[in-house]
Amino acid sequence: MTFEQIRRIVGETPYMGIDEGWELYRFVTETRPQACLELGHAHGVSSAYIAGALDEVGDGRLDTVDLLGSAGREPNVETLLAGTGLESRVVIHREKSSYTWFLKKKIEEQSDNGVCVPCYDFCFIDGPKNWTIDGLAFFLVDKLLRPGGWILFDDYTWSHGKHAGRDSTDGISIRGLSEQEISEPHIEKIFKLLVMQHADYSNFLLQDGWWAWAQKTPDGHRALAEGHKAMDGKTGRLRDS
Ligand SMILES: C[S@@+](CC[C@H](N)C(=O)[O-])C[C@H]1O[C@@H](n2cnc3c(N)ncnc32)[C@H](O)[C@@H]1O
Repeated sequence: MTFEQIRRIVGETPYMGIDEGWELYRFVTETRPQACLELGHAHGVSSAYIAGALDEVGDGRLDTVDLLGSAGREPNVETLLAGTGLESRVVIHREKSSYTWFLKKKIEEQSDNGVCVPCYDFCFIDGPKNWTIDGLAFFLVDKLLRPGGWILFDDYTWSHGKHAGRDSTDGISIRGLSEQEISEPHIEKIFKLLVMQHADYSNFLLQDGWWAWAQKTPDGHRALAEGHKAMDGKTGRLRDS
């Protein structure tokens, strides 16, 4: 399915704009991940772009996970995907408390003799943007991501300050957070402190200050000789630290 066809179907549905939709669609058609995982689908706009791109290359499937409440969205992901005719490419999962529980079940399913066999080539993390949930999600996804696979975080500079004044969002008690937890962008911290310091990840890229990409190094650990590469906060490019 072409990008234009998907774009027309999703129309003005939140939460992904045309430019981000194009970047996601282009990434999938160029990289051709066989098995994709999406954490946080909301109405299913990003799911539709991924599914459309998989259909365009003629291969691949998507597991997409959200909270139970996403079923009640207007439209919900089922309705949006029905409009594309691509339902067969997508398996929709919903959890009561968090996608980290879905990841726990998937790790169990993939474990044989105490070893978890990775099964995904791409994971898009677009959920609560929270250190505790998404920091754990990164380590769980790492177990399921094949060497050479990519991970993409949305909302790099978002902070819980956006929801200051509310009691809770996405099951997170905003009142229970410290001032620092409210003001600091959790995804940026996860990316810099967990992903970039992880020996198995490289090719870090910050796109438009909002999307953070990392690739699981195809041949195992990052070579020590490569040194530690840090990402320039302004350009998103890598530099030696
Ligand atoms: C910004 S929306 C996702 C938008 C979607 N990826 C898109 O671009 O069209 C974030 C979603 O994450 C879900 N979410 C938040 N915390 C979650 C959690 N712990 N487990 C599962 N889903 C979660 C919310 O219910 C919400 O639908």
